[in-house]
Amino acid sequence: MFQIKTFIDVIKLPLSSLKKHLSSTQRLRLRVLWQDFISIPWGRDLSRLGSIYGTDKSEGHGYTGHYQRHFSPLKYSKLNLLEIGVGGYERAHSGGGSLRMWRRYFTRGQIYAIDIHDKHVHQERRITFFRGDQSDREFLRRVADVAGGFDIIIDDGSHRVTDVILSFETLFPQLNSGGIYVVEDTQTSYWPVCGGNSEDLDAPGTTMAYFKQRVDGLNYREFMLPGYTSNYFDRNITAIHFYHNLIFIHKGDNTEESNVLVDNCLPSGDQSNA
Ligand SMILES: C[S@@+](CC[C@H](N)C(=O)[O-])C[C@H]1O[C@@H](n2cnc3c(N)ncnc32)[C@H](O)[C@@H]1O
Repeated sequence: MFQIKTFIDVIKLPLSSLKKHLSSTQRLRLRVLWQDFISIPWGRDLSRLGSIYGTDKSEGHGYTGHYQRHFSPLKYSKLNLLEIGVGGYERAHSGGGSLRMWRRYFTRGQIYAIDIHDKHVHQERRITFFRGDQSDREFLRRVADVAGGFDIIIDDGSHRVTDVILSFETLFPQLNSGGIYVVEDTQTSYWPVCGGNSEDLDAPGTTMAYFKQRVDGLNYREFMLPGYTSNYFDRNITAIHFYHNLIFIHKGDNTEESNVLVDNCLPSGDQSNA
């Protein structure tokens, strides 16, 4: 262990003096080379990868354990992943940590990223960047068209409740069956500065109220509401997992009939219990 540490220190010494003579882009490339090298033994461990590549998904929030549980069945799949929010805001060279973490974890994955700021410098092998606003439906549809649909979508962008809901309603139809949509930082659902509400937890238009309503949609076949017209989300969401500040929505076929009701009514003459 001591020898490995010494070896790393010896390599780091000339690297840190070299860094002073490099441009921001060259420094970024060098940092990524280093991160790619030291992450080699940790390809299956999202928490380690998160720390190495510098995303707050691991240490700041503790999301990576949940990600690992939901994403591990897809680890070796050929997939398209979209993340809204590269990180670093207006600082062009900052951010990109989560994109590189996903690239390392999903060895056959194509990573697509959106940010309102120019983050083209983070476009690398298997990482494609699009600059735009997540509240722009046309822009989101164009990105989905170029990618040809997604298997995973992660919303880590503005966290404004209107943007979260608009992006979900626009992009969820672009998710392939069996895919997963993730919304991060749902605490903003309670914060007025982001359009949220702490006093009325079911306030219409807040992220949490919206997804709590989607939970009822899982059971739409059981509503005793003759003439109920199901919506796209009722029919295509198969599971919703809520965690502290984090939601996973699984897509698939949710059209299984009720074992009792027919067209949201009790069959005539049937007074039996379920
Ligand atoms: C929390 S950071 C993303 C962190 C990154 N995903 C990670 O895990 O390391 C949020 C990013 O969303 C971007 N953003 C904010 N509002 C946005 C919007 N309306 N549309 C697209 N991106 C936005 C910001 O510029 C910022 O870079």
